[in-house]
Amino acid sequence: MEPRTSQDVAKVVSGTAAIDAYVSDGMRLGLGSGTTSHWFVRKLGEAVSDGLDVVGVPTSTSTKDLALEVGVPLTTLADVERLDLTIDGADEIDHDGAMIKGGGACLLWERIVADASDRMVAVVDESKVVDTLGAFPLPIEVVPFSWESTRRSVARLLDKLGYRDPELPLRTRGDEPVVTDSGNYIIDAHLQKILDPVALDGQLNWIPGVVENGLFTGIADEMVIGFSSGEHEIRD
Ligand code: 5RP
Repeated sequence: MEPRTSQDVAKVVSGTAAIDAYVSDGMRLGLGSGTTSHWFVRKLGEAVSDGLDVVGVPTSTSTKDLALEVGVPLTTLADVERLDLTIDGADEIDHDGAMIKGGGACLLWERIVADASDRMVAVVDESKVVDTLGAFPLPIEVVPFSWESTRRSVARLLDKLGYRDPELPLRTRGDEPVVTDSGNYIIDAHLQKILDPVALDGQLNWIPGVVENGLFTGIADEMVIGFSSGEHEIRD
């Protein structure tokens, strides 16, 4: 598969540069989800066929399927105690490395795998780097049993924090709710500007019925930014 757009090129550049900079023989890797991560997994498959000896834990069923297709050997969190490194994309990342993730609805497994890793590197194209998080709607994974009342609790919290009547749509495909790999639903919170991501992350996850939210703060150790010019920049 070849990149078609200039953004694809930037995503490939970022994924490839992350392999060159961080991946070495013997590593146990967390394999991110989304299009940037999938370019990374394809490049990793090429490196494996050239002799690189690594094993990966996928963060979604789609990444698992791709890894199997391109020949990246897989393991599970049941079989390895810690991972050396997770490489994953982001929907937005600020200059401190705080991220919004979950545009692909994989946030729960992504956070678990990142948490099981000694190091996390975000792979992003230049469009993902922002001064303030929030233009991208914040995904909140919720239990189907109570999603309407959990959404009301989220709305009350946001109102208390000064977000005025944010849209909180249930994510759907056609007429059906999007169902995550863990069988949950996603609510997308349109906040525009998130001024205290660390606090909001914790407060959202305290709400019963919220399984996880897409604010990943204090998780990325480094970011690899790919540019459509073919260049990249590593920031820590
Ligand atoms: C999926 C994610 C992805 O990493 C995020 O949505 C970025 O995706 P892409 O690389 O396709 O822009 O968090 O849940």
